[in-house]
Amino acid sequence: MPTKIEKDAISGQNTTGHEWDGLKELNTPLPRWWLYTFYACILFALVWMVMYPSIPIRGLTGVTGYIAREAGTAELAEARTRAEPMMARLRAATPAQIAADPELRAYAIAGGRVAFANNCAACHGAGGQGATGGYPTLADDDWLWGGTLADIRTTITHGIRNQDDDEARTSVMPRFLGDGMLNRAQIQDVAQHVLGLSGLATDQAAAARGATVFAENCVSCHGEQGEGNQELGAPRLSDRIWLNGPDVRTIEAFISNPRLGVMPAFGQRLDGATINMLAVYVHSLGGGR
Ligand code: HEC
Ligand code: HEC
Repeated sequence: MPTKIEKDAISGQNTTGHEWDGLKELNTPLPRWWLYTFYACILFALVWMVMYPSIPIRGLTGVTGYIAREAGTAELAEARTRAEPMMARLRAATPAQIAADPELRAYAIAGGRVAFANNCAACHGAGGQGATGGYPTLADDDWLWGGTLADIRTTITHGIRNQDDDEARTSVMPRFLGDGMLNRAQIQDVAQHVLGLSGLATDQAAAARGATVFAENCVSCHGEQGEGNQELGAPRLSDRIWLNGPDVRTIEAFISNPRLGVMPAFGQRLDGATINMLAVYVHSLGGGR
């Protein structure tokens, strides 16, 4: 096929000389503004490559010597230096002193909220509302281990039933079915009695039988009326607040083979100021004493 460049009669542009089935291809030039923008981009890229990390000039940093990681580290260090006087005050004070000082308290609650989101929310929920399966809400006035600022600080520092801290809080409840102390019928009865303590029993006859089982096996830890015992970490059973419940199957399963919750110790992982901020923050969630 002969290639013949000619002027197109309608558009006034040259053709490329390509032709398919009578259709001729036009050789329309790129708009000028587009072309200059394109050249400007290439120029910008060349300058950028020389200035910033791209080609091996001055190690690998480019002529400016810029390293994003170092810039970030420096900024972080600067922020830390700026915060340090406040952190030192928060470290030296007790949570009670922090709570009593409006300036420190405001700072602690803001910092505590961030530390809580990073370290605690996975188990206790974003607002400390807790989660089913033994993760207690921290926003109510019901405490297994005590709700004063000092109690909360101790819980956070040492954790609960973990392996890494000798002073971790700990408590036990027997496995009444697993260890053969009660049979299934007795467990069903005593579960009804437990529900009855907060007026939720569905089978009154079973609950009445369960009262005897409860008196013989449970009052030493949970108290005559199921009022609980903070020294033993035994929860109040009469308040309609449950770690494991309130459906009767979950309660029966718990009495049969209790799965006791574990919380890590934060004393080694977090700075003292952060632990104090967390204690003040948790205390402020609604149930602090
Ligand atoms: C791996 C899960 C986990 C993480 C992470 C965790 N906790 Fe806990 N926490 C628990 C469990 C489980 C319990 C209840 C243990 C029990 O049955 O006694 C608990 C109990 C508590 C209690 C005692 C509540 C009471 O009623 O006395 C406090 C206070 C507490 N956590 C605060 C925190 C704070 C603050 C953090 C973050 C620094 C945190 N927890 C991180 C699992 C966790
Ligand atoms: C040696 C002390 C001890 C004895 C005895 C004991 N418990 Fe417990 N019980 C505990 C502790 C400690 C917990 C809290 C476990 C935890 O922190 O996860 C608990 C938790 C519970 C719970 C869960 C409460 C909730 O909020 O989810 C129920 C239900 C319960 N016990 C019922 C009983 C019954 C019924 C008996 C008697 C058959 C009994 N317990 C005997 C120590 C005891």
